Amino acid sequence: MERYRKLLEHVAPAHQEQLLRFWNELSPAGRDQLAAQLEAIDFAALNELIGKYVLQRPETEIPADLGPAPYFPLKPRDGAQTALYERAAQRGAELLRNGKVSCLTVAGGQGTRLGFDGPKGTYPIGPVTGKSLFQYFAEGIQRAGEKYGCRLTWYIMTSLLNREATETFFREHDFFGLAPEQVFFFTQGTMPAIGYDGKLLLAAKDSLSLSPDGHGGTLLALRKSGALDRMAAEGVDFLSYFQVDNPLIPMVNPLFIGLHDLEKSEMSAIMLAKTGPFEKLGNFCISNGRLEIIEYSDLPAELAESRNPDGTLRFIAGSPAIHMISRSFIEKLTAGGNLKLPWHRADKKIPFVDAEGNPVKPTEPNGVKLESFIFDAMPLAERTMVLEGRREDVFAPTKNPTGVDSVESCRAMLIDRDARRFEAAGVKVARDAEGKVAAQIEVSPRAVYDDADAAEYVAAHAIREIPAGAKLYFE
Ligand code: UD1
Repeated sequence: MERYRKLLEHVAPAHQEQLLRFWNELSPAGRDQLAAQLEAIDFAALNELIGKYVLQRPETEIPADLGPAPYFPLKPRDGAQTALYERAAQRGAELLRNGKVSCLTVAGGQGTRLGFDGPKGTYPIGPVTGKSLFQYFAEGIQRAGEKYGCRLTWYIMTSLLNREATETFFREHDFFGLAPEQVFFFTQGTMPAIGYDGKLLLAAKDSLSLSPDGHGGTLLALRKSGALDRMAAEGVDFLSYFQVDNPLIPMVNPLFIGLHDLEKSEMSAIMLAKTGPFEKLGNFCISNGRLEIIEYSDLPAELAESRNPDGTLRFIAGSPAIHMISRSFIEKLTAGGNLKLPWHRADKKIPFVDAEGNPVKPTEPNGVKLESFIFDAMPLAERTMVLEGRREDVFAPTKNPTGVDSVESCRAMLIDRDARRFEAAGVKVARDAEGKVAAQIEVSPRAVYDDADAAEYVAAHAIREIPAGAKLYFE
């Protein structure tokens, strides 16, 4: 009774007594689980969030002075910039050789749009082999380490929903050739799902409905998991950050790393020229001298569509979610074990148990999940840097089964990138009338990490031609 009373007092500041409705029916283990979940929540703070984000629908504030963010262009503007890029690429390579860089992949999302059951990183993306997204990254990381004579540690953020399945997948595949201690899994935090009436939802009589707290949770999770300590112990100063859905990414990019360092940036980003005003990418903006990303869903149409005198989009810079982040910046932001990033509301259909204890699967949104976004840390940085990337070399997101940003488009882009590399090395690749590669090819990132590798590989294997209709794997 004493425990029950204490829990009641604990949830009272947010008027959440209904969470203990089934207490008398619960097994000892069920009670332990529910009590632990409740005790982990600061209900006074949560009550504020419910008032601000659930009971009202906060409008994203668009600052009056919002303008497009400046960036370093893909092609250097003049001789001075050419020299800067050369210095930066050398600096990046040197930082890699000196073991100053690790990789960080956020893989805690639920991948609902893809309709794939299982951690998204286990999705079989390889156009010929069907190798997983995780394997793609692992092979690239291994080859990059070999090239730069360093052992890159790979931090992978999972969620409570997919941590176990992710680790099991790695173990079953012998870590795809990486040393097991090179891979550091950590788990992001959770947030309780909240019904439209402001009441937290129960997923079962003995459990809250909990979901990942958004990739903004990465920063605090890096501290809590000991990842920051490990980086410090290994002398690693920088994280190369990318999303699990983008196998086209160069896992470490010397130019980007070097420019981040030379510009003394705390958090940097790659930008791409958007394909149109409403492409589903975050938008790089500047307000009050600070860099920020406004999500595609939040940028007002009149801004998204506004154009420069020459007809180009004013807000041309879209975010493929590729970052360099300094360890010192994360340490500063998370000092004291706290990090305040804004929350974003997502309306969802959230399964729950009703007052009678019956499971309900809603067909319409019935509540809110709150997430924080890692890019909201950018306005908190003293210095930032944005570098333009070439879409066909860095960004092929796998969000949907077909169509835009899909498994299909991603595979086509992987094939095209590999074909271009081979062509640059003198191979004749069959293309159809529209210029599309007329064969299915896949090149292991373990064998070819970049253009220089491709040239060596083509010479060593005397590859001359990829004929139409061929299905070939190069490893
Ligand atoms: C995201 C970005 C968008 C960017 C686009 C590029 C957000 C809110 N928006 O959009 O600005 O232009 O990618 O592809 O992120 N994740 C976690 N934990 C979570 C939630 C997500 O680890 O709690 C990870 C996912 O596993 C994934 C990534 O974050 O790797 C992005 O999540 P996703 O839901 O795919 O974001 P998008 O809306 O596609």
